[in-house]
Amino acid sequence: MEVRVFDTYEELSREAANIIIAHVRQNSTAVLGLATGSSPLGLYRELIRDHKENGTSYQNVMTFNLDEYVGLEKTHPQSYYYFMMENLFNHINIPLDHINIPNGTAKDIAAECQRYNEQLAQHTIDIQILGIGANGHIGFNEPGTPFDSTTHFVKLDEKTRQDNARFFSSIDEVPTHAITMGIQNIMAAKKIILLASGTSKADAIYGMIKGPVDPQLPASILQTHSDVLVFLDKEAASKL
Ligand code: GLP
Repeated sequence: MEVRVFDTYEELSREAANIIIAHVRQNSTAVLGLATGSSPLGLYRELIRDHKENGTSYQNVMTFNLDEYVGLEKTHPQSYYYFMMENLFNHINIPLDHINIPNGTAKDIAAECQRYNEQLAQHTIDIQILGIGANGHIGFNEPGTPFDSTTHFVKLDEKTRQDNARFFSSIDEVPTHAITMGIQNIMAAKKIILLASGTSKADAIYGMIKGPVDPQLPASILQTHSDVLVFLDKEAASKL
């Protein structure tokens, strides 16, 4: 793992965006793994700005998102589909049929997990963007998830629901379940960039980097991947 600490979230976002932009400009058919949450928002803003100013094209790029809540329609403002459209896809020239996000309202969730996993198996993600949960989760792979897991249906940790309640009007509205890429799918990416900012992530970041590789802290598996960049602001790095 290569750890870089930045003075500001803006700087961290810009540097991460530059890696993606350079890759897409050199590989027009790049496959990107994308994340939701606050952490990649600045990075997405930079991709949009660059697309508008410099014309970086996403016409042939394909994307796979990490996860989606179960039970929220695509039109629900807290669905990850909606988040991605609002914060990235509506503002760049990526064709809709190049976007892959698990369908959280599929009638048969087990079949949807299998379909998504098969889609993933047909592609290799060049760069996977990750955030990290305060409990060390990646995607929605909560503590205790086996490292060899593939796309699956997951019951969310109460800690995760509480953390994400800030986006909903009450905790009762936070979905209880999600579909997530598994840890094995994430580890199959050629390169991984994990972004974290703020003191609430400091413990998870410490455990991920300095702790043992342990399913109780899912992100710790990244220690065994050959190409991981960890981009932190000073607060997230404060316990290192
Ligand atoms: C969410 C998502 C993760 C994300 C994490 C951190 O629950 N499923 O993919 O990385 O929590 O979110 P944030 O970046 O908002 O802190």
